[in-house]
Order: sequence, then structure tokens, then C-alpha cells
Amino acid sequence: MARLGGKKALITGAGAGLGAQIARRFKQEGAELVINDISDDAARKLARELGGIGIAADVSDSNAVREMFARVESELGQLDILVNNAGFAFKPGDQETINRVNEVPLKQLAELEAGGPVQTHLDLTVDMTDQDWHRMIAVHLDGTFFCSREALKIMNPQLSGCIINMGSIMGTTGGMGSNYCAAKAGILGFTRSLAREVVSRGIRVNALAPGFIDTELTEPLVAARTLIEAQTPMRRFGDRDDIAWAAVYLASDEAKFMTGQVLSPNGGYVMSQ
Ligand SMILES: NC(=O)c1ccc[n+]([C@@H]2O[C@H](COP(=O)([O-])OP(=O)(O)OC[C@H]3O[C@@H](n4cnc5c(N)ncnc54)[C@H](O)[C@@H]3O)[C@@H](O)[C@H]2O)c1
Repeated sequence: MARLGGKKALITGAGAGLGAQIARRFKQEGAELVINDISDDAARKLARELGGIGIAADVSDSNAVREMFARVESELGQLDILVNNAGFAFKPGDQETINRVNEVPLKQLAELEAGGPVQTHLDLTVDMTDQDWHRMIAVHLDGTFFCSREALKIMNPQLSGCIINMGSIMGTTGGMGSNYCAAKAGILGFTRSLAREVVSRGIRVNALAPGFIDTELTEPLVAARTLIEAQTPMRRFGDRDDIAWAAVYLASDEAKFMTGQVLSPNGGYVMSQ
């Protein structure tokens, strides 16, 4: 099947994890690819493997994003699908946050089991630096805005296109860091607003809100994993295809009546609507 045959797609943060798997499935379904990542090596490597163009750019840098889309327009002349996927949850080397996210919920449970009260606290926000806050918002929320704005310059005159933004269940439930959850919640609001704005141009805008999926991003969740699996009705983390196939669906004409929606493969962790 070629559910994306003839379509040209740009996926941000596609050098690894969910973005890379979305790229593989898009390719399998016939799309022509632009692979973006902040890592030049990762972007070029996957572009060589799958065919297509690899472009290194930090999505939080509006000039770099503008240049990337100018290249897309001049080399492809068209853009049908944008997946705003680039992101991170833990800043590299932030062992203190990783330790707290892993250990505090288990310590609190043990304290409750011992008759309470809870005396161990997460305290992530009170210890968050300005830089930790701004970088998280910059990559996820600014990046989604910068890339969408440039993509619309190509999609608007086409009177067609599809934007998929990567949210998270954390944007709805909270958990992990408040900076991550604020960014993801912002992405869901941005998705709904943009969907209403561009519907008259034949452009669809939707979001994915994955639950916990096995990628490098969730690797640090070691001690917390058992608790998360216990809270997930399917009792497991998702795999990359659980998200990649949902992206294929949203990008395809099968989803032609879908806009402003949040599709959330999460093993039942959150059930809504
Ligand atoms: N894995 C999960 O459980 C999960 C759950 C919900 C949402 N998400 C979201 O899915 C997206 C992908 O996550 P993943 O699990 O594949 O993570 P990952 O760490 O495996 O891959 C993220 C990729 O994004 C790239 N990247 C990071 N910052 C970038 C930037 N500023 N510009 C361009 N590229 C950048 C990285 O180099 C990396 O290749 C993220 O937005 C994440 O928040 C992941």
C-alpha cells in the first residue's frame, strides 16, 4: 500500500526514536522525506538509509528553521506533511532530576504503606533554573510554532497540507517536570487554534499524545518503570510503531475528517472522550 504516495514530508527530530520510526513508516507508505535533527550525523545517516534530504537544524532557532524550509521549498517545491516531533524530557547529565523522578514516587508509596505521612517530596519546580524552563519551552513550543509558521508559507498557497504536533499524555495528566508538561499542554492548545485557523485552506492540524514509549527519552525511567507499567492497563510501555502508525493514519487521506484532534496511543494510561 502507498497511503502517502506522492506526498512530501518533513519530520523534525527524526534522527532517533519516534521521529525515525515515523520516517521509516512514511517511507514505506510512499512519502518523500526530509529528515531534520539537531544532530547533523543523525539526520544525514537516516536520510542516507531511507533516501531523502537530511537537514541539521535546532528547531528552537527561528533563523535555522527559516533556512531549512527555504531549502525544502527550493529543492522539493512542495510540502504536504510536517511532523513537529523534536523534543527531550531530561537535560543531558541531569542525574539529580532523573533520580528524583525514579525514586520519590516509590519512597512516597513506602511511606504510605508504613502508615504515612508522606515526607519525601519531588520539589522539581522549586529547584528549576530559568534556563531549564526556557530551553524546554523553546525546543517544544517555540520549535513547533517556528516550523509550523514556515510550513504554512508553503502549504497556504497549495490549499492543502497536514501538520502533526507531538504532544504527550503529560500535557493532560501532569507528571515528570512542570516545564515539560507546560510545553506539551501548550502544544495541544496551539494545535486546536491552528486547526481552526487554517481549515479554510484545506490544511489539517492534529496532535499525537503518546503514553510511555520505549525510546532513549524514557531509558532513564528505570526504578519508575514498574510503577508506570502497573498504572497502565496494558501493563507495558509502547513501542515506536504504536506511534508511527498513528502518525501514518493522521498524515493519510484516511484521516480527511480529522482536524484539531489529539490521538493518544497510551495503553489505557489515560482514557478520554
Ligand atoms: N518516548 C516517549 O515516551 C514519549 C512520550 C510522549 C511524547 N514524546 C515526545 O515524542 C518526541 C520524540 O521523543 P523520543 O522519545 O523519540 O525522543 P528521542 O530522544 O529518542 O529522540 C528525540 C530526537 O529529537 C532530536 N532533537 C532534540 N532537540 C532537538 C532540537 N532542538 N532540534 C531538532 N532536533 C532535536 C534529538 O537529537 C533526537 O534525535 C518528543 O517531542 C517527546 O517529548 C515521547
